[in-house]
Amino acid sequence: MKVLATVAEALAQSRAKLPRVVVPTMGALHKAHLELIRVARNYAGRDGEVAVSIFVNPLQFEPGSDYERYPRPDRQDEELCRNADVNLLFRPSPAEMYADDRSVFVEETSLSNTLEGKSRPGHFRGVCTVVAKLFNILAPDAAVFGEKDFQQLVIIRRMVRDLNFKIDIVGVPTVRENDGLACSSRNQYLNVEERKQATALRRALLAAADRTKAGEESAKTIVDLARKTIGQASLARIDYVDLVDAKNLLPIEVVRPNSLLALAVFFGQTRLIDNILVG
Ligand code: PAJ
Repeated sequence: MKVLATVAEALAQSRAKLPRVVVPTMGALHKAHLELIRVARNYAGRDGEVAVSIFVNPLQFEPGSDYERYPRPDRQDEELCRNADVNLLFRPSPAEMYADDRSVFVEETSLSNTLEGKSRPGHFRGVCTVVAKLFNILAPDAAVFGEKDFQQLVIIRRMVRDLNFKIDIVGVPTVRENDGLACSSRNQYLNVEERKQATALRRALLAAADRTKAGEESAKTIVDLARKTIGQASLARIDYVDLVDAKNLLPIEVVRPNSLLALAVFFGQTRLIDNILVG
């Protein structure tokens, strides 16, 4: 496995083994990242190349969030990549990625206005900018993203379409712990009691999905049910629970096919997100 820390080295890499498939991450790798790497290998084949990037992107953390305390277990991440048969690990420093006087950004202006974009102003501008840079630096044929960050996946697809990146975007279903909690690098912030109560998120999504299967069409009723289920966890503080059209991410009042129920909930300082397709 080649480990590269500079943009110059990455740009100089020949694309000898094709296709090249990239998995962008912020590190603190867990089971879900490994699943993305597995899907990447599957796409690349034995003769192709799997590249993983690890970069905790300052641009996508809004002021006061967890940029400084975000976990950075560098050695362990490198070991996991080696064991997962990754060909290339790109791990640049912030100074390597961003000039002090940077003045060009990539901004998606429609899908970013709801859900995470509404709660975290500037977040998707940071995500789009860094992913566009990674695409230019690593020149992949395909890139793999998880459905846990559903809005991110939809926005990246839009960016690729609107800016004509010749890159196939592959989505991977959400990977979960045995009790249903979606895997996340942020789960390790949770204390024992918070971790126990965090299972309420998946329960809420499943209860809501069941209700739509039983014929309920009112978005308000579905959202209220999810909120009530989360409310049973005494430590949960809801940021949002929203039902949107899965294509344009706009709020809906009546559940229809391809609706997305998405939520963000705090346990202490830790903000968790999850979602489910309903309808
Ligand atoms: P990060 O949170 O490290 O996630 C990297 C990739 O793993 C993303 O595509 C994310 O959707 C996926 N992922 C995380 N948890 C998952 C789960 N439980 N199931 C399925 N996929 C999961 O997302 C980012 O980093 C950043 O925003 C990034 C795209 C790297 C840009 O900085």
